[in-house]
Amino acid sequence: MASMLTRTVERARRELRGHYAVLRRAVAGRIFKRSLPLTDFWLLHASWITRCLYVVVKLDIPDILAKGPRTAEELAAQADVNGSSLYRVMRCLAAMGMFDEDRAGRFSLTHVGESFRADVPRSLKMWTIWRNEDDLSPELMLKAVRTGRHGRADQQGDETSWKRLEVDEETGAAFDKSMGAWTEIHLPEVLRTFDFGPVRTLVDVGGGRGVLMAGILKANPHLRGMVYDRPPVAARALRYLEEQGVAGRAEAIGGNFLESVPAGADVYFIKHALHDWSDDFSIKILSNIRAAMTSTSRLVVWDAIVKPESYRDRLTKLLDLQQMIDTDDGRERVQADFERLFAASGLKLTRIRHTFIEDMCLIEAVPA
Ligand SMILES: C[S@@+](CC[C@H](N)C(=O)[O-])C[C@H]1O[C@@H](n2cnc3c(N)ncnc32)[C@H](O)[C@@H]1O
Repeated sequence: MASMLTRTVERARRELRGHYAVLRRAVAGRIFKRSLPLTDFWLLHASWITRCLYVVVKLDIPDILAKGPRTAEELAAQADVNGSSLYRVMRCLAAMGMFDEDRAGRFSLTHVGESFRADVPRSLKMWTIWRNEDDLSPELMLKAVRTGRHGRADQQGDETSWKRLEVDEETGAAFDKSMGAWTEIHLPEVLRTFDFGPVRTLVDVGGGRGVLMAGILKANPHLRGMVYDRPPVAARALRYLEEQGVAGRAEAIGGNFLESVPAGADVYFIKHALHDWSDDFSIKILSNIRAAMTSTSRLVVWDAIVKPESYRDRLTKLLDLQQMIDTDDGRERVQADFERLFAASGLKLTRIRHTFIEDMCLIEAVPA
């Protein structure tokens, strides 16, 4: 009798699980269709939306519109471009929700368009320019898929994309600024998710322009910090930390995390700087951080964790393609990858916290 009951309950459970899976797929499918104008024919033209965004952002149109509505002719006169062509681009973006167009043909910014102004917090302007000027052509992606090597491998020998950025100061600085603008979006989540109370010293490994460090130091007056990055980036970070008024409690040190990392901090952060590297190189970087840690230091990797069966981490899966095309076997990783990399680097995963931002989780480790 008891075993019959158990079997019935088990069968009911299985059925419920099946129904739930069907429901979940159906809901996810609907959300996908509703929230992205990328179904059917749209999907083929998504890159044109990106190009249109590039054109208006490069011409500072959102910044001009911040002063009030303008017709395309007025905007074109200010930007010194062709009015009729600009109108067609703006009309298309208005249809995508970036601008409103009134009956007199004057355009104004919607709340979406506002984020492309230069002077708003968490501006998308720099990233829009970077994404387009450094864009991954269809040929590069096809090549990466055909060969399993990153798309630019032939162009630059075995050099990583970081060497490419060192070609000139302007390109390097443009990347730092774009990444910094992206990190401004992450900053509130870092401050919300991590308890800085007990921390006295923090090293941000591959800390870029220092946007994260400056934000953390401003919010935590008891803290001292160090940005550790390639020498040209560290020099730019120092200037930024000075501009932000936190240089009294911060250093920016140039170096190579493939060789060593400054020793003895309470906490090490490495944010969006492991996904650019293959497993072998990531183990090298993590081992160097481990060698720099004391027995009580902690490491926090701020990176995406890919959820293979979820529709929701679309951004993570898109950004993973950038690693595929642009880096030597870099990738967005699943949780088991981090456990494996930590174990191979003398570290032990202690905690994972998801944030509200899709491409950033807190992945914490201590010496094993
Ligand atoms: C994707 S960016 C992330 C920057 C920063 N953590 C952020 O989230 O804004 C990766 C950073 O790693 C740095 N990096 C790359 N190779 C490095 C190396 N060998 N040693 C130190 N830093 C390096 C780059 O200069 C860049 O600033």
